Amino acid sequence: MKAEIAKAVEQLKAGRLVAFPTETVYGLGADASNAQAVARLYAVKRRPADHPVIVHFDAADRAFTWAREAPEAARTLAKRFWPGPLTLILKRSALAKDFITGGQDNVGLRVPSHPVAHELLASFGGGIAAPSANRFGLVSPTTAAHVRADLGADVDLVLEGGPSEVGIESTIVDLSRGEPVVLRPGKIARADIEAALGRPVSEKAEDVPRHSGGLERHYAPRTPARLVPVHELDREIARLKDKVAVLAFSRPDERVDYWLRMPRNPQAYARKLYAALRELDSASCETILIEVPPSAPEWAAVLDRLRRACGTAVT
Ligand code: TXA
Ligand code: MG
Repeated sequence: MKAEIAKAVEQLKAGRLVAFPTETVYGLGADASNAQAVARLYAVKRRPADHPVIVHFDAADRAFTWAREAPEAARTLAKRFWPGPLTLILKRSALAKDFITGGQDNVGLRVPSHPVAHELLASFGGGIAAPSANRFGLVSPTTAAHVRADLGADVDLVLEGGPSEVGIESTIVDLSRGEPVVLRPGKIARADIEAALGRPVSEKAEDVPRHSGGLERHYAPRTPARLVPVHELDREIARLKDKVAVLAFSRPDERVDYWLRMPRNPQAYARKLYAALRELDSASCETILIEVPPSAPEWAAVLDRLRRACGTAVT
């Protein structure tokens, strides 16, 4: 791994793109201080230029140099959850240029816990801009093979780090506007943030700041997908003439062409989710039916990703 990391650092310094594992999903990394490298990152992602990208660091101290203010709440959350699957939105310092923030006055900062990510970031010694290593709007990769399948020759190097343990993207907490707001739910739940801060935290005010994960259809397979309550699953299967793929807790139904059974534990479900959506997407079915998970708070992050997966189909 040492030699691979050294090669990756060399590539990043030369303005190239390196995909690397994190505990949430794989990221597509570029030197966050290099405008050309970030421009190429956006081109490969096919991401609109006014969408901000998260900057990754090896440690909180380094991360906070990219913010002009690190309020106490930020220090508290960093101490409690970094390294780990949490992104903090803070007012930017001069280090965070417009090409990273989409022109906004704040910046997304994250310190991942995956050992390969950590080693890469520590050896690189600066900020690495990294969105999930998939094309814009599609399902995030949780293995190096997913990255290669999605991006092919567009990525200069892919670091191997096994399947991502969390499986869905980091929790995003906006601390740039006074009151903390959860912009994207993740493994770290709103209740965990509230417990750490000792006060109530609200969830996503839809208006500002803009973030691409907030778009209607995101993290989505190509095959049209629909959430179906368990008591309607049977009727839907009977009604549909299409070739159907199902993602469910329940046992396979023999009328269904492709059935994937998911765990009843939300963490285990999240870990498998994107690989499962990819698998169903490649089963050449016309419709994906997804059994609705429980509406308990521990399912919030999974439910959020499932809802996004069920937006209007991308053609
Ligand atoms: O778990 C993760 O966060 C992964 C891994 C690779 O770290 N990264 C990730 O990045 O999910 P991406 O770019 O696919 O999603 C980041 C989300 C987007 O919705 C982006 O718009 C939002 O974070 N974001 C980044 N900077 C922001 C900012 N300054 N203000 C508001 N939202 C921001
Ligand atoms: Mg993404």
